[in-house]
Amino acid sequence: MKVLIVYYSMYGHVHRMAEAVAEGVREVEGAEADMRRVPETLPEDVLEKMGAIEAQKSFSDIPLCSVEDLIEADAIIFGTPTRFGNMCGQMQQFFDATGQLWLEGSLVGKVGSVFTSTATQHGGQESTILSTHTTLLHHGMIVVGLPYSFKGQTRIDEISGGSPYGASTIAGGQGERMPSENELEAAKYQGRHVASIAMRLSR
Ligand SMILES: Cc1cc2nc3c(=O)[nH]c(=O)nc-3n(C[C@H](O)[C@H](O)[C@H](O)COP(=O)(O)O)c2cc1C
Repeated sequence: MKVLIVYYSMYGHVHRMAEAVAEGVREVEGAEADMRRVPETLPEDVLEKMGAIEAQKSFSDIPLCSVEDLIEADAIIFGTPTRFGNMCGQMQQFFDATGQLWLEGSLVGKVGSVFTSTATQHGGQESTILSTHTTLLHHGMIVVGLPYSFKGQTRIDEISGGSPYGASTIAGGQGERMPSENELEAAKYQGRHVASIAMRLSR
């Protein structure tokens, strides 16, 4: 049973969350987790100005995702940083290349799930995840979130990402905050939850 974690990360926050998601998937017996990055669309000089080059180097060993990779997966968990409350352009561009899969119904009945990162606490975590769900639903995927059985999302003793829609992290205005323990636990829980549902469906 293969779970693909497909993500884009500019400064490493979504990448760190993706690692935790993969960890959660691997806790389910018989589930394999593969991480894939969607291709970059911004030119090198723009990435340089955005201060992304150094950060991206640290996870450049993660293979790039092809559209065909999606067909082979039983479940796909997408990770995207927010851009104005929506998925990033790199992820949108990747989805825009999946028209043939839509035509052939290749993703129909696969489990799909989304996690995200924003700079600010109310900067669009929920809108990013929910608007990305629209694309998953157009592909006929079975959308899975982060249930309240993950108790960490009810915490109010610290600032934390995480909602019933999916795991999330707050990166800070300068990207200075890496995912907290609670946010990583949420990501892990989501991975495990998706994998166990996909496992039950595959039986
Ligand atoms: C063009 C652009 C738009 C962004 N829009 C938002 C936004 O609407 N809300 C927010 O909180 N952060 C916003 N951010 C901050 C990113 O979401 C943040 O850098 C990202 O979550 C960090 O994740 P990463 O390290 O995986 O790239 C924006 C960043 C860029 C470059």
